[in-house]
Amino acid sequence: MAAREIVPGVFAVGAIDWDRRLFDELIPLPDGTTYNSYLVRGSEKTALIDTVDPTKTAELMGNLDGLGVDAIDYIVSSHAEQDHSGSIPAMLGRFGGAKVVTNQKCRDFLVDLLRIPQDRFIVIGDGDTLDLGDRTLEFIIAPWVHWPETMLTYLREDRILFTCDLFGSHYATSSLYVPDGGRVYESAKRYYAEIMMPFRASIRRHLEKLASREIDVIAPSHGPVYDRPAFITDAYRDWTGDAVGNMVVLPYVSMHGSTQAMVDHFVDALVQRGIGVQPFNLTKTDTGDLAKALVDAATVVIGSPTVIFGPHPQVIYAAYLANLLRPKTRYATVIGSYGWGGKTVDTVKDMLGRLKVEFLEGVYVRGYPKDEDFAALDRLADEIRKRHEEAGIVPS
Ligand code: FEO
Repeated sequence: MAAREIVPGVFAVGAIDWDRRLFDELIPLPDGTTYNSYLVRGSEKTALIDTVDPTKTAELMGNLDGLGVDAIDYIVSSHAEQDHSGSIPAMLGRFGGAKVVTNQKCRDFLVDLLRIPQDRFIVIGDGDTLDLGDRTLEFIIAPWVHWPETMLTYLREDRILFTCDLFGSHYATSSLYVPDGGRVYESAKRYYAEIMMPFRASIRRHLEKLASREIDVIAPSHGPVYDRPAFITDAYRDWTGDAVGNMVVLPYVSMHGSTQAMVDHFVDALVQRGIGVQPFNLTKTDTGDLAKALVDAATVVIGSPTVIFGPHPQVIYAAYLANLLRPKTRYATVIGSYGWGGKTVDTVKDMLGRLKVEFLEGVYVRGYPKDEDFAALDRLADEIRKRHEEAGIVPS
């Protein structure tokens, strides 16, 4: 993608990865992604803010060539993960006088991960500035907006905040700015769920710190740029806030139809009680969609058959993921069926140990569910409605 101007002298020079479908060999990317890099020209010095994934180094080089860039003084590294830092060695090779500007922790990561020599760094701290002549970069250390070394950069004169992973979206688009609010909102929410949700408390603190700052543009390192910053900061306030929605997320697997019959009955029971429900058959589910649903659902109900002695392996994966992502879910339980015994319910509960949830009594039955089992599911739906009402979550 050709370089594009944000304001005179400030350009997006990164790359679009239309075809990437998996990130970190873990996260599905239905809409591809972008690796954004930004060139800031001052009257005396030139800075590059982050680079691109090493598979796209040539595109970054080409964009700099297209702008006639023959010298870079500073390469600001906001985050050491290689989708942003991976082209730094090539940049240092090409621009012999360039220094990598970053915080101490990120410097240490870059030395370890990319073998960048120590003498190529300038180490900065929170609130430090870098003078480019008529432009000033201010650094904001913001740990845990993915890794512990992450930081933001504020271009004071133009009121542009470069946020690297924070506020990003895995959304490949040729538009510089958010082209379609609805689609980017969903993409950014999915990205938040997969990458940022475990760091909800840190992000809330960062949002508070940023609230008093005048920001005209937010330029993340994935997805389009926000020329209306409130679009994404308001969304993040919602997602990181304590409020949960009147929704049950129901990831499940059924092997021979017993758990499926329970799920089908339970979905109807919830709907009849004015409670939203999102079932996810884990044999067909995109884990990103499941993660997104977990962002603000009040309740999670896991449906599993018993395989030998414990949960179905797909359920183990989903429970592990939910435990890792730490959504703000308030209530959880397990439904399903078994043949001859096992520890499915206890195993799932143990796997969700990092969640601050209250476990409700589940419905776990031998074989195909009987009338009394369906009645127990109705009582569970009643209980969930009662809990939602008590928590001030209004059923529809
Ligand atoms: Fe986009 Fe944490 O890297």
